[in-house]
Amino acid sequence: MAREQWKSEWGFLMAAVGSAIGLGNIWRFSYLAYEHGGGAFLIPYLVALFTAGIPLLILEYALGHERIGSAPLAYAKISRRWEWLGWWPVCFVLFGIMLYYSAVIAWCLDYFFYAFRLAWGDDPNTFFFKRFLQISASPAELGEVRTPILYGLVAVWGLSWWIVYRGVQRGIELANKILMPTLLLLTAILVFWSLTLDGATTGLKAYVTPDFTRLSDPKVWIDAYSQIFFTLSLGFGIMIAYASYLPDRADITGNALLTAFINCGYSLFAGIAVFAVLGFMATAEGKPLAEVVSKSIGLAFVAYPKAMSLMPGGNLFGAVFFLCLVVAGLSSAVSIIEAFVSAVVDKFGTARGPLVTGVCVLGFLGSIVFATRAGLLWLDIVDHFLTHYGLVLVGVLECVVIGWFFDLPMLRRHVNRISPIRLGKIWDLLIKGFVPLVLLVILAGDLYQDITQPYGGYSWTALILIGRDWLLINLALAVFLASRPWRTGNHRHPGRGLL
Ligand code: PHE
Repeated sequence: MAREQWKSEWGFLMAAVGSAIGLGNIWRFSYLAYEHGGGAFLIPYLVALFTAGIPLLILEYALGHERIGSAPLAYAKISRRWEWLGWWPVCFVLFGIMLYYSAVIAWCLDYFFYAFRLAWGDDPNTFFFKRFLQISASPAELGEVRTPILYGLVAVWGLSWWIVYRGVQRGIELANKILMPTLLLLTAILVFWSLTLDGATTGLKAYVTPDFTRLSDPKVWIDAYSQIFFTLSLGFGIMIAYASYLPDRADITGNALLTAFINCGYSLFAGIAVFAVLGFMATAEGKPLAEVVSKSIGLAFVAYPKAMSLMPGGNLFGAVFFLCLVVAGLSSAVSIIEAFVSAVVDKFGTARGPLVTGVCVLGFLGSIVFATRAGLLWLDIVDHFLTHYGLVLVGVLECVVIGWFFDLPMLRRHVNRISPIRLGKIWDLLIKGFVPLVLLVILAGDLYQDITQPYGGYSWTALILIGRDWLLINLALAVFLASRPWRTGNHRHPGRGLL
């Protein structure tokens, strides 16, 4: 059967942007920028974008496109020895990141409905942790499943199933062509609305005022690199699969630049709304901004709801905000499912329909653990290990395998033959040396920190059994899948660069 293809490059771009723009753009970026020197953070952020983000994104696009395959197929065509490196991320991203990511989208969906009646009252903190999550004391105490989250999960997996089931063109491409412009529109509403609030400028000042002294802190640079890596969905195996659905002639470098700029531009833009609202809240409560700022979950589910309660029309503002999170999250979620599905189809020739259904049912069942009372604790641990070790390690190996054990100049020639913007030899140097080195530094820093102090104050048992083993079990699964014989002849087809 012929490989599926995007209807247009625009559709591909929207799908890639849909994957890149996720929850991280809204709640992670703004906080990092604030904490790491405001406007000055743009310097490490852009440096990281140009020296690692874009080169790696081009690498993943080039690999998927030239080898014409999802991650495992692409690596298998380099050498059967490396096939596991394709399976590992697609396994732990689906049976890991996606399981808790879907739970967070489910929370957002619940909060979308709560927003209309500002259900959190005047104490969003107690509401979130005690009434909504009913968080337990330790990861070992799972407690019962929280029904509102369970319903949310049914909706999230149901919607993702529906989109991916319809296929690349009629599902993922179509959905993203609708979802991405919608997201931009909703975000624009939030941004302009937030600028009309009292105290908005206080927040904006803190967001953009550069504090250049922060740039001497290595942590700022490390955080910039890991944010770029995560936000562009690098190392997930997603961009490889998405690029494999491009036609023979496609603008690789141009699309990589566009994906990166749209994604990072969106982060900057959404940050305006985040900080204008925090400024409003600080003014309304007569507190300094530093006291009302918070990151990730605290920002979305505690600080923001509080601001909505104080704001005229806050319930509508809240609904739009949570809808944004749902849309941003959902379009990333489908990309994870697709990366895995395309890998299995490539190797085993499984019929797509039943496979998508099976994967979504399994995924839904697996995500239920994150809907229990210990859900947030599990999420925290699994997220830490998968994103800090799994993804970064995959990134390093990706650069080393492709840079040193494969024909990188051939890949560059392939890209240059079909793209108007040409890659120079500097790209080879970045991929072979600089990028893996930076990623290794990040890895070493995290490892050092985690060894000296158990992450998040959890017990070693919990960290090892839930965090480390989550990665190892998926590694075992990846090695197993890689050892199975190829049912399709796909791995014997040459790549495009050799034709
Ligand atoms: N780029 C996404 C983000 O910033 C990361 C991600 C991609 C998460 C795909 C899940 C799935 O949120």
